[in-house]
Amino acid sequence: MLTAITRAVSPAIVRCELSFIDRQPIDLGRAREQHQAYEALLAKLGARVLSLPPEPDLPDSMFVEDPAIVLDEIAIILPLGTESRRPEATSLTQELSKYRKLAHVQLPGTLEGGDVLRIGRKVFVGLTKRSNAEGIRQLEEILRPHGYEVIPVSVKGCLHLKSAVTWIADNTLLANRAWFDTKPFAAYDWIDVDPAEPHAANALALGGTIIFPASFPKTRGRIGSLGLRVTTLDISELQKAESGLTCSSLLFES
Ligand code: GLY
Repeated sequence: MLTAITRAVSPAIVRCELSFIDRQPIDLGRAREQHQAYEALLAKLGARVLSLPPEPDLPDSMFVEDPAIVLDEIAIILPLGTESRRPEATSLTQELSKYRKLAHVQLPGTLEGGDVLRIGRKVFVGLTKRSNAEGIRQLEEILRPHGYEVIPVSVKGCLHLKSAVTWIADNTLLANRAWFDTKPFAAYDWIDVDPAEPHAANALALGGTIIFPASFPKTRGRIGSLGLRVTTLDISELQKAESGLTCSSLLFES
């Protein structure tokens, strides 16, 4: 069945890493409520949600997508590009070992799951401040025997590849094309974010529904006009921690 690993919001989230947005005060109670609503929506859409306890000393630890990649065949544990976030992998590794054989990318390679966009057997990986060429090289070595093609993508102007582009349906990607090299994606169709909403490219497609941030109504209209089913979620407090929707869960079949 579809399983979603999540983690409760850390009380330390107010000290989270920020790269491309300015710091604003975060209301911890509201952040927790919004994350619980996210977990409830995943469950409503059919996922078994395994919510891990909070990590009081790890501000960004609710972003469980970043320290690991989970595929049908294997899970890969990643050295995050931000040193302060590297301890997040420890408890996730224990949890994932119940479901998958594990492989590890090793330093000096760095890689974050937010930079990894898998579409079928293609694994697009953003080359960013968080994910380097050596990390991508090691991932390629790990995944080649399993029949995956790893494709590096240059990214500029945002945190992760999936801040700039996500898969939403069939052959269609939602994107802010100003932020990455689109050449590796020549075979796909695009929905462009509304120019007034540059951060709106991170959507989470799950079971035929697209979960989308309530704060980007213009782009939501563009997605909805294609006849796709969209459910909006208020993640405004979490967005102050540079959160999208994909980064708060690890989704896999178990
Ligand atoms: N606050 C999310 C990150 O910078 O990793």
